[in-house]
Amino acid sequence: MANTVPDISLNDGNTIPQLGFGVFQIEPKDTAEAVGRALEIGYRHIDTAEMYGNEAEVGEGIRASGLDRSEVFVTSKLNNGFHRPEDARRAFESTLAALKTDYVDLFLIHWPLPTRYDGDFVSTWKTLEEFQRDGRARSIGVSNFQVPHLERLAAEADVVPAVNQIEVHPYFTNEQVRAYGNTHGIPTEAWSPIAQGRVLDDPTVVDIAEQVGRTPAQVVLRWHVQRGDIVFPKSTTPKRIEENFRIFDFTLDDTAMERISGLDKGEPGRTGPNPDVFDYIPA
Ligand SMILES: NC(=O)c1ccc[n+]([C@@H]2O[C@H](COP(=O)([O-])OP(=O)(O)OC[C@H]3O[C@@H](n4cnc5c(N)ncnc54)[C@H](OP(=O)(O)O)[C@@H]3O)[C@@H](O)[C@H]2O)c1
Repeated sequence: MANTVPDISLNDGNTIPQLGFGVFQIEPKDTAEAVGRALEIGYRHIDTAEMYGNEAEVGEGIRASGLDRSEVFVTSKLNNGFHRPEDARRAFESTLAALKTDYVDLFLIHWPLPTRYDGDFVSTWKTLEEFQRDGRARSIGVSNFQVPHLERLAAEADVVPAVNQIEVHPYFTNEQVRAYGNTHGIPTEAWSPIAQGRVLDDPTVVDIAEQVGRTPAQVVLRWHVQRGDIVFPKSTTPKRIEENFRIFDFTLDDTAMERISGLDKGEPGRTGPNPDVFDYIPA
């Protein structure tokens, strides 16, 4: 079985590689090299954010790879301090300038911040609609949106988000939000797909890994892709960057899939904050 990364179709006619490379918590000084390594291995999708402070180095890594800009799917995200339309416009320009590109493939509202900005994320979303209309964001989407937030966009906005990027891994399967996405044409992007490493020594995961002759990380990433979600594990370890890419040349049977889904702990299983109350604005 060849290890080929499938494309997922988005509701706006574009496609996204189902596996990408995440760069959260990669130091700027290490980012270009890590991105270069990922591209060399075959990743063609990079997930960054203004908040990560490494957009410039992501751009540098892509340019140094010698690949054409059109060959790499690049996502970035609007930082929490810039939800007001005029700030969002300036922040988006800074993102493009840092990446040294004319467009991003996907631009997301990073967090809904329902307790900030008088609860208004709709005007922010409509500003992203402008970026898509003028071609500087090929696709636009959201991150950390809960079902009521998505329902509100459906009622008040014109464009359906192309993706919703949310925390999903075996300890927090986030089924309700995923189910809303599935029935409304919004693919789920699963962030912290291996729970920042926390699920890798789970006895069930280790047992399945032994059965299929793969590593725990490969098994968990394979579980995500068989559920249809998009993933972008982060690593600065060359061997792991390669390991995480080799997940399309084996399958998990229904029993293994169900055993992994059964590890869900609900709300206590989160590694990150609950989007209903998260209100962090970087200084
Ligand atoms: N939208 C959001 O709010 C949001 C929030 C969090 C994350 N994200 C996105 O999702 C991406 C992934 O999430 P994440 O970075 O939080 O966590 P993650 O990908 O679940 O886990 C990364 C951690 O696991 C380790 N690791 C990676 N591959 C491994 C392997 N094969 N075996 C053992 N350990 C391994 C890494 O260590 P080393 O680096 O030392 O190898 C790192 O400590 C982020 O980079 C970012 O793009 C988005």
